[in-house]
Amino acid sequence: MKQSSPRSLFATRLGVIATTVGSAVGLGNIWRFPYEAGVHGGSAFLILYIAFILILGVPVLCAEFALGRSTHRGVFGAFSAIRPRSRWRWSGLIAVVSSLMILSFYSVVAGWTLEYFIVSVKGGLSSLSDSELHSLFSSFIVGWRPVGWTIVFLLINYFVTARGVQKGVERLSNILTPMLFILIIAFCINSLLLPGASEGLAFLFHPDFSKITPSVVIGAMGQAFFSLSLGSGVMLTYSSYFTDHTPIVRSAMITASLDTLIAILSGILIFPAVFTYGVSPAEGPTLVFEVLPSIFNRLPGGMIWSALFFFMLFLASLTSTMSMSECAVTYFVEEKGMRRKSATALTIAVAVVFGTLCALSFSSLSGLTLPFVGSFNIFNFFDYTSSNILLPVGGILVSVFVGRIMSRSQLTKQLSARPSGAPSIAARIIPFILCWVAPVLITIIFLVNL
Ligand code: TRP
Repeated sequence: MKQSSPRSLFATRLGVIATTVGSAVGLGNIWRFPYEAGVHGGSAFLILYIAFILILGVPVLCAEFALGRSTHRGVFGAFSAIRPRSRWRWSGLIAVVSSLMILSFYSVVAGWTLEYFIVSVKGGLSSLSDSELHSLFSSFIVGWRPVGWTIVFLLINYFVTARGVQKGVERLSNILTPMLFILIIAFCINSLLLPGASEGLAFLFHPDFSKITPSVVIGAMGQAFFSLSLGSGVMLTYSSYFTDHTPIVRSAMITASLDTLIAILSGILIFPAVFTYGVSPAEGPTLVFEVLPSIFNRLPGGMIWSALFFFMLFLASLTSTMSMSECAVTYFVEEKGMRRKSATALTIAVAVVFGTLCALSFSSLSGLTLPFVGSFNIFNFFDYTSSNILLPVGGILVSVFVGRIMSRSQLTKQLSARPSGAPSIAARIIPFILCWVAPVLITIIFLVNL
């Protein structure tokens, strides 16, 4: 085990919230949530998603925070700090692999936002009809430009990550998150005035329990993990920069609430438009890119709105991908003794290779068939495997480790706002959820899906 350099910690509490929210809020809220909800029947998905955020999301987030803050180590080192040389450290490696997989496909979508930003600035969207917007995306995605944008995005990510997290993310997120929030609310109001608003809202909010199937359940659980950046050690790594006074439970609740709020607002923004412009809600990953430009086009000064929106989405993606690369970079620096620049270069190089394959899975590689597997889309494989399998597995591992292996008195101390005095309610409930509810629930959901 290599010795890590002394860490500088977060300067302010606002910085902590801005950074964790910066990681949590991203394409997962604005792009992935609406398309997953659309594919999985809307309201049923939303109910389960919120339930998973409350039952699993907040407790697992607290577990990651407790482990990171108490050890001040990255995801691999945190497990070894408490259980040196045990098999537990491999949990850290699973986390590093899943963050690299997510970084790869996520950068492809972030690349799409760059293309749409540039096209918007050039005014290329404003004169198009809805069907022309649809074919614009379809023809863009089958060319080589998505590969180029993926690489451009990853290079930008390289330059920011190589300079270190705190300064970059903390400052960027402080400004960005409130701006994104205001912009989304303005667009929501506009969407609510569309003729398809009531149909869209009914799709999202009218509870229809008959639509709940095993695949909806696993999708909603995966989305809860993805959206809160859980199960891949990202939040754990960030919390290793917390001071001993950063309140864990409160920070987790604020992060989860803001994240969920932005996801729901994105649903309110998208679904009225989906029903107004006659797009299928179950369109999949391309949904947002075909629907949002239609909304912007009908607004006065649509070009400015769409340029602004896609630029914000690009920045929001950047604060999320910085957290994913940070997880791998910290591993290479702390455990392999690499210099930060080389570690970042290695991480980005891996993501460029896999990101290119993901970007091509809508064009040259779209007809890929594999022995035993059949037709195979690399992008969907990366998305599904990492979010719906690796992240929940990471969630089980961190829950069991923090709930059962870390000493209970230390956990209680981490979870309590004031170290002295009786443990708070959260400090009593959360260990129970970590020991029993989270591992059992996630395992059952896996078994039912098999
Ligand atoms: N939560 C981010 C989003 O919603 C994505 C993200 C960042 C992520 N870091 C992660 C997802 C780590 C899974 C694991 O866009």
